[in-house]
Amino acid sequence: MTDKLLTGQRALVTGASSGIGRAVASALADAGAAVLVNYRSSQEDAEQVVRDINQRGGKAFAVQADVASPGNCEKLFGALEQKLGGVDIVVANAGVQRDAAFTEMTLDDWHKVIEVNLTGQFICAQEAVRRFRLQGLDPDRSPALGKIIFTSSVHQAIPWAGHVNYATAKGGLKLLMESMAQELAPEKIRVNAIAPGAIKTAINQDAWETREAREKLLKLIPYGRVGEAEDIAKAVVWLASDESDYVVGTTLFVDGGMLLYPAFREGG
Ligand code: BGC
Repeated sequence: MTDKLLTGQRALVTGASSGIGRAVASALADAGAAVLVNYRSSQEDAEQVVRDINQRGGKAFAVQADVASPGNCEKLFGALEQKLGGVDIVVANAGVQRDAAFTEMTLDDWHKVIEVNLTGQFICAQEAVRRFRLQGLDPDRSPALGKIIFTSSVHQAIPWAGHVNYATAKGGLKLLMESMAQELAPEKIRVNAIAPGAIKTAINQDAWETREAREKLLKLIPYGRVGEAEDIAKAVVWLASDESDYVVGTTLFVDGGMLLYPAFREGG
């Protein structure tokens, strides 16, 4: 058997039953990692992800947990310990959108998005770091003690009218990631983020489903196509691998150029 990029690595992907999380879990497994596919409510979808991975010869299993709840995150890491003997890669990916105009946004919409997209990431990452420390460094496995990758968004940088809860959570995630990276790099824990632009998933279906919506969306994407979940997954595999061992505290934007102020192509 030839070694793959992530052979011997053990990975957790939160929110992995659909969208970007599903593609990331599949790509990590295809790259040789054993993967815990976390889901909150879509058990069938998560089991399908696991079956697909197993059918391709990969190793995966599904565990239910709501990442916004501390007890639940411990459950995930307990399962990793029990089934795989530990964890090397954590992709804190679970996220939701609850969009509303500023004055229409309920406190519940605000709390929900901050809870899942920011607090949930914090809780999971905190538990990950504790586990990495307990495991200790194994240079045969990786030069890093552990790798954490947050799924952020172009909206950690681009303000987003009608989505203040989401943009606030992602903006917070940027500094959570950078502050953690600064604090933990001396222990050889690599913390980074991936920032997708518009990717064809259920979360933003309204933005790409109809031709009219797609044409509007494409005006924001210099590269001229809406992204696929696999575009993100390929970048995550690299960030999780030792090929990126010197990449610390970085946000990798995978957005077809969305961050380049495309409206300024013809203005300013
Ligand atoms: C959001 C999508 C949106 C994209 C670009 C993502 O973070 O979840 O709904 O299409 O950013 O605006």
